[in-house]
Amino acid sequence: MEIFDAGSTAENYRRFLQPVIFQPWSERLLSFVGLELGQKVLDVASGTGVVARAAASRVGPTGRVIASDISARMLHSVLVDADPSGASIEVLECSATDIPLDDGGMDVVLCQQGFPFIPDRAAAAQEMHRVLKPGGKVGVAVWAAGKQLEPFDAYAEAVRAEGIESAFGNIATNASVTMSEAEVEQALLSGGFTRVEVTTERLDIRFATIADEVRGIFGTPLGASVAAFEAERLDAFLKDLERRLAGPDGEPVPHSTFAVLGRGVA
Ligand SMILES: C[S@@+](CC[C@H](N)C(=O)[O-])C[C@H]1O[C@@H](n2cnc3c(N)ncnc32)[C@H](O)[C@@H]1O
Repeated sequence: MEIFDAGSTAENYRRFLQPVIFQPWSERLLSFVGLELGQKVLDVASGTGVVARAAASRVGPTGRVIASDISARMLHSVLVDADPSGASIEVLECSATDIPLDDGGMDVVLCQQGFPFIPDRAAAAQEMHRVLKPGGKVGVAVWAAGKQLEPFDAYAEAVRAEGIESAFGNIATNASVTMSEAEVEQALLSGGFTRVEVTTERLDIRFATIADEVRGIFGTPLGASVAAFEAERLDAFLKDLERRLAGPDGEPVPHSTFAVLGRGVA
C-alpha cells in the first residue's frame, strides 16, 4: 500500500495540512512558473489537488487540468471546492514514472512536494519531459534540505520518542522529504530539461488552533502508526505533541517554511 493511502490520511491531509501549508505554497509555485489562460496543465503527485485547483483557476475555462497521483484516496477529493469558473479538472490514478498520456500534449507540468516520495526521480523527470510540448514548462517544489520543517519535525520527533519504527524514511531527520537546490536542479537536468533555474523561498505559516496543528499528524504517513495506539497511550502522545508545538500560552506559533522551487523548459 502506498504511504498516503492509509485509512483517513487523505481526509486529514485535506482538512488540516492543505489549507495552512500546501495551499499557500501552491500559489508560490504557480507564480514562479507562470501560467497563461487556455494552457493544458498536468499536476504530478497531485494529492488532494491543491495545485491542480489553483492552476485551473489561473488557466481559466479554456484551459485543461489533469491531476495525477498514485493514491486513489488522495485523488478522491480533487474536485471538492474546485473553482466553477476555472478549467475543468480530470483525475488520473498513476505513478509519476508511468503516466498514461500521449507525448507532447501538455503546456505545463507541475509537481509540489512529490519528488522525495518517488523512488526514481530521474524517471519521473523524464516522464514529465515526455508529456510536455517542445518549449513547455515544468515547475516543482520540494522542502529545502537543511532547514527546520515544522510542524513535520515535531511530528517526527514525537513519534521517535515513542520508539516507533516508521516505514516513512528516516524520521530522525526530515531528510526523507527534503532536497537541496543542487538535487532539484540535477533531477530536472536528468529529465532532459533546459534553462533549469532553482531558488529557495520562505513562507511563514500558522495554524488557527493548536488542536488543528496536532491533528495534522494524521494527514502524514506517520499518522497510521499513531492512530493504532490504545486510548491512554494516544491521549498521552497527543498531549506530548501539543507541548512540542505550542507556544508558552498554549497557542500555535508561526513557523517559517522553506522550499526549493525549480523550473525548466522541455
Ligand atoms: C506531500 S503529498 C503532496 C500532494 C500535493 N502535491 C500537495 O501539494 O498537496 C505527496 C503525494 O505524492 C504522492 N506520491 C507518492 N509516490 C508517488 C509516485 N510514485 N507517483 C505519483 N504520486 C506519488 C502521494 O500519494 C501524495 O499524494
